[in-house]
Amino acid sequence: MKGVILAGGLATRLRPLTLVTNKHLLPIYNKPMIYYSLEAMVKSGIKEVLITSSPEAVGQFAGLLKGGEDFGLTLYYAIQKNPKGGIADAISLARDFANNEKILVLLGDNIFSYDLRPSVDRFESREEGAVIFGVHKDTESRQYGVIEIDESGKVISIEEKPEYPKSDIAQTGIYMYDHHVFAYIQQLTPSQRGELEVTDLNNIYKNKGNLYCEIIDWWVDAGTSYDELLRANNEVAQMVKEGKL
Ligand code: G1P
Repeated sequence: MKGVILAGGLATRLRPLTLVTNKHLLPIYNKPMIYYSLEAMVKSGIKEVLITSSPEAVGQFAGLLKGGEDFGLTLYYAIQKNPKGGIADAISLARDFANNEKILVLLGDNIFSYDLRPSVDRFESREEGAVIFGVHKDTESRQYGVIEIDESGKVISIEEKPEYPKSDIAQTGIYMYDHHVFAYIQQLTPSQRGELEVTDLNNIYKNKGNLYCEIIDWWVDAGTSYDELLRANNEVAQMVKEGKL
């Protein structure tokens, strides 16, 4: 299984911090943000990771991370020409890299302590489908995709930033897909905000009855606002001091 970290976008919600600095290079406590996704990949047992970013930032990632040797990873880079293409558009850049293997996708601004290794191992032995990761959260804020599941973790519904959330489970930026993912992305059309939505992609798996959700505990989406960025810094500092991260 291979890894994909999405590190593009304009990060307008964090301006002026992100006017000349890519969001995923901003500090979170004592490291650049993207280190946390890379470390999650290492912990999951994945060895080859593709980083997707903008033409302006991709060289900065290469300068910082080089071939990935400091992490024990082999890193590859892909350029996302359209920063407003959306998450599913960025995932589509990984087609050749994935080479028919399954992929673990992480949004590079998501920080979590959950050990993905057992989930990756289980998913590798499964034939087909996708797994998404949710967290219990206040979904009324309309910042997240909202997931409804049954007792077995099978996804019943998933809606992008709904007005009336059907559950308190927010969709995180952690996704595992089988090799069909690239064909499914080709079926997508841009949403109202002009993006190829990860929620629309996940709904294709859901409609095939092949989408499961695992619940994780601690999670911060450091890219949503200044307050979440601050919370990420404070909570990561605490977690590091307690030896939990
Ligand atoms: C994206 C997804 C959303 C998910 C969120 C997690 O939202 O569309 O479903 O809950 O990431 O970070 P965006 O940050 O693009 O608004």
